[in-house]
Amino acid sequence: MNIGIIGAGNMGSGLGKIWAQNGHKLMFSYSRDFSKLEKIAQAIGSNASVGTPAEAVQFADVVVLSVPYGAVEDALKAAGSLDGKILFSIVNALLPDMSGMAVGTMTSAAEEIAKLATNARVVEALPVFAEVLNSESRRFGDQQATVFYTGDDEQAKQVVADLLREIDVESIDAGSLKNSRYVEPAMMLLIQLAYTQQLGQVGFKLLRR
Ligand SMILES: NC(=O)c1ccc[n+]([C@@H]2O[C@H](COP(=O)([O-])OP(=O)(O)OC[C@H]3O[C@@H](n4cnc5c(N)ncnc54)[C@H](OP(=O)(O)O)[C@@H]3O)[C@@H](O)[C@H]2O)c1
Repeated sequence: MNIGIIGAGNMGSGLGKIWAQNGHKLMFSYSRDFSKLEKIAQAIGSNASVGTPAEAVQFADVVVLSVPYGAVEDALKAAGSLDGKILFSIVNALLPDMSGMAVGTMTSAAEEIAKLATNARVVEALPVFAEVLNSESRRFGDQQATVFYTGDDEQAKQVVADLLREIDVESIDAGSLKNSRYVEPAMMLLIQLAYTQQLGQVGFKLLRR
């Protein structure tokens, strides 16, 4: 599969590296310093290339949006038309200093992104913390972390669920894109537990009976 990454920071580059190792073709885009993208692609090897966000969209079967919430509008402008594309957003609507949710709790980054990227097939999932993603294993002991995905396009959700499985997490369908307004603050709770309560590397595990 061709995967276009918009925002190759801790998460975008970490996800891209794993997917490239699994045989996907990656194009990294959107940096204030293009040479950073080139370094990431070079380190990954022949399955990785670099381009503009618009080129990444053209190239991609799946476009991954992995920028801070404050950069979303600019990134999507640079991406151009996303009509019919699967747009896999990992963006949480955090304030830049992580002191709260930038959009409150009556909407979400995912819903706001869907308004901006009209006709894109938006799916959101907030994968494990970057520290976990970029470590040797994503597992907690022998357990997979649970990652919830939301969206309104069933086929697009299946594609994202498969990509999540490739990073060795348990992906759970959390319903429509609107449910991102619950998933995003839940991730904020994890951030509080990890950094304010200093619990270290934490993740969700959904128990069922
Ligand atoms: N970190 C986590 O554990 C985690 C977990 C789940 C979800 N998320 C979400 O994933 C998204 C990305 O997080 P991240 O930790 O990967 O962030 P990050 O390391 O800061 O990466 C953001 C990327 O966006 C690029 N960018 C280009 N123009 C920008 C601009 N004007 N302002 C800011 N960045 C710009 C940056 O490139 P240059 O710096 O090269 O310009 C950078 O590579 C966020 O929405 C976050 O909420 C993060």
